[in-house]
Amino acid sequence: MEEKARKLLDWSQWGRQWIDHLRRKKTLNRELERHLHKFEESFIKIGRQATRIHKAEAAEALPILIARAEEVQKQFHHFLRLTQLTEDERFVEQTVAQEELFEAEAVQEATETCEATPAQMRETAISAPYQAVRETAREPIRVARPVAPGRHTLPPLPYAYNALEPYIDEQTMRIHHEKLHQKYVDDLNTAERKLAEARQNGNYDLIRHWERELAFNGAGHYLHSIFWPSMSPHGGDTPTGELAEAIQRYFGSFDAFRQQFSQAAGKVEGPGWAILVWSPRAQHLEILTAEKHQNLAQWDAVPLLVLDVWEHAYFLQYQNQRDKYVENWWKIVNWPYVEERFQQARKLRWEPF
Ligand SMILES: [Fe+2]
Repeated sequence: MEEKARKLLDWSQWGRQWIDHLRRKKTLNRELERHLHKFEESFIKIGRQATRIHKAEAAEALPILIARAEEVQKQFHHFLRLTQLTEDERFVEQTVAQEELFEAEAVQEATETCEATPAQMRETAISAPYQAVRETAREPIRVARPVAPGRHTLPPLPYAYNALEPYIDEQTMRIHHEKLHQKYVDDLNTAERKLAEARQNGNYDLIRHWERELAFNGAGHYLHSIFWPSMSPHGGDTPTGELAEAIQRYFGSFDAFRQQFSQAAGKVEGPGWAILVWSPRAQHLEILTAEKHQNLAQWDAVPLLVLDVWEHAYFLQYQNQRDKYVENWWKIVNWPYVEERFQQARKLRWEPF
């Protein structure tokens, strides 16, 4: 119980950190600013209630509070997406958004007040994974809606920028997420828009260029989107359950798997990735590497665990010691998230060849 209440506190901190971040970085219109304020209130109120539960050990109130937090979480992720769209793009998505955001207000109004002051709230330590809310560490639950051409957005980092220290330092994480991942998103959007234009006017003179941009930036965006939740300040250790069995079955042991993965990551030629995949056709796991983001892939396979070995992921802190970065990275691997991806991926059944 204590652990769950503590994680809710972490989550509340995470939300307020994102709100501060948005206030510093973005110019929001009045409508979005109003919603931002409501979300802030929700994060604070849920945090206060978690403090009260934590102190009073009122276990029975916890499931209700977790359910509320999950609802706020879902809506907040959608809100973060809206803040990244232009006014016009936002207008198209507004109908659904409005409904969800009004629900957020209902959640906020239903949340009771309690005695803890904002000053007391600020005293709690900052390190806040969204997966705090759930037992397993899953990707944020989003409303299933296709992403229109050119409308990809940067997923929020699921913990504070300094949460993975001492293994990955704050400055690296900031540059990596805020600047580099954002650039992949922007360039993927440009490629998709340019290709949409080409379809309209029938001019495919630059098709080779835009197809390359699509592959490079699309792979960059998707791999980073898996990479962030693949790590956690509460990570490390070894996987459990069916994923552990599948690793044992195919690689012989966890140590053998880890050694092959580390070796593969260390030996990627130039920038790239080490990737644990599930092959729906062969029905087994495999370790692959990618040069840059998109080369050397087995396109049939589903990535489960990805390790970024571009220099931007470690150079500030580790310089040329990629092996040391890989070694330390195992201490923050978020195995419940990998297990979740494994469970989803293995539902795929393709004809074996
Ligand atoms: Fe990267």
